Amino acid sequence: MIGTAKPGLDISITGLGCKVPDRVVTNEELSQYVDTSNEWIMERTGIRERRIAAKEEALSDLALPAARDALAQAGLTGADIDLIIVATVTPDMAFPSTGAIIADALGAKDAAAYDLSAGCTGFMYALAQAYGMLAGGLAQRALVIGGDVLSKILDWSDRSTLVLFGDGAGAVVLQAVPQQGFLAFELGADGAGGKSLWLPGSGSRFFEDPERFVKMNGREVFKFATRILVQSAEDILAKCDLSIDDVDVYIPHQANVRIIEHATRKLGVPSDRVVINVDRYGNTSSGSIPLALADALADGRLRPGQLVLMTGMGAGLTWGSALMRWTMEAAA
Ligand code: ACO
Repeated sequence: MIGTAKPGLDISITGLGCKVPDRVVTNEELSQYVDTSNEWIMERTGIRERRIAAKEEALSDLALPAARDALAQAGLTGADIDLIIVATVTPDMAFPSTGAIIADALGAKDAAAYDLSAGCTGFMYALAQAYGMLAGGLAQRALVIGGDVLSKILDWSDRSTLVLFGDGAGAVVLQAVPQQGFLAFELGADGAGGKSLWLPGSGSRFFEDPERFVKMNGREVFKFATRILVQSAEDILAKCDLSIDDVDVYIPHQANVRIIEHATRKLGVPSDRVVINVDRYGNTSSGSIPLALADALADGRLRPGQLVLMTGMGAGLTWGSALMRWTMEAAA
């Protein structure tokens, strides 16, 4: 699906926060657990290190501080929020939802709160959904959280997946603003590709082998990722009568530097407009885009008035882009 913002209805991000676990795990450390090397990981993925949650740390332990920072930046409290969406494939548990846990912790007593599952694209789906609810008048102020603790569902003896992922979460506040914010969204799903990236034993489907670890066909996902990052970006820009030259800041899903470089080359985005932090965090799934937004805001690359293109992709297989004029100043 693809759609542009309702004319005269300006909705934007007014607060942003993020949180990663304290523990840094380098490629050298991973080579103690599996047969791999810093050279292999750097050459194939560009990932140098990632953050890994402690045994007792769950998604809400990362999402809550991120949410508190986002609220503080927006000048709001939990009580002001009437919608909380947590995009994740690693909630604290299947139920209650992490959204409900967060609502309780923040004192968001009047909020609808739930989790959303769209693989690594979850944050983009959640942004679009929150936008739709605000634009439709169902909610006034939304908290959208994207985060995952994938280290808990990785097979720590499988080198083909272990080296790619990390843990982290980000949160944004969405509300009406006086100037233009979101311009358009483009979302999609291709369930036929689902077998390329899946988590057996995680739901009601019975498997002979109940091993509950991420399974991935890396080459298929690579092909999908390089194609869809380009296609989704081109589609959303065309829908808005804009071109890639108009984009000031490009934030692709942080899965692999090779995938990002391929997409930016095909799209023709100059490298100084591309935000990359996969080298420090690995692929944090739904945390990837909000973490990158926070980095770009902190280092001064993201400024009010700039055109920002974000594209996520992941399990499903799913994808999603958002195009917006940035409206928020960095925190002093
Ligand atoms: N260390 C050393 N060797 C390894 C490792 C490792 N960590 N992993 C695989 N290898 C070996 C393989 O066993 C293979 O050995 P062989 O030739 O003896 O069989 C060799 O390296 C090459 O393996 P390939 O899978 O062909 O390597 P490729 O160049 O395709 O890179 C990679 C693999 C990095 C996984 C790549 O396919 C990729 O990035 N795919 C996309 C993955 C991804 O981004 N997934 C998540 C996106 S969606 C989401 O975010 C949820």
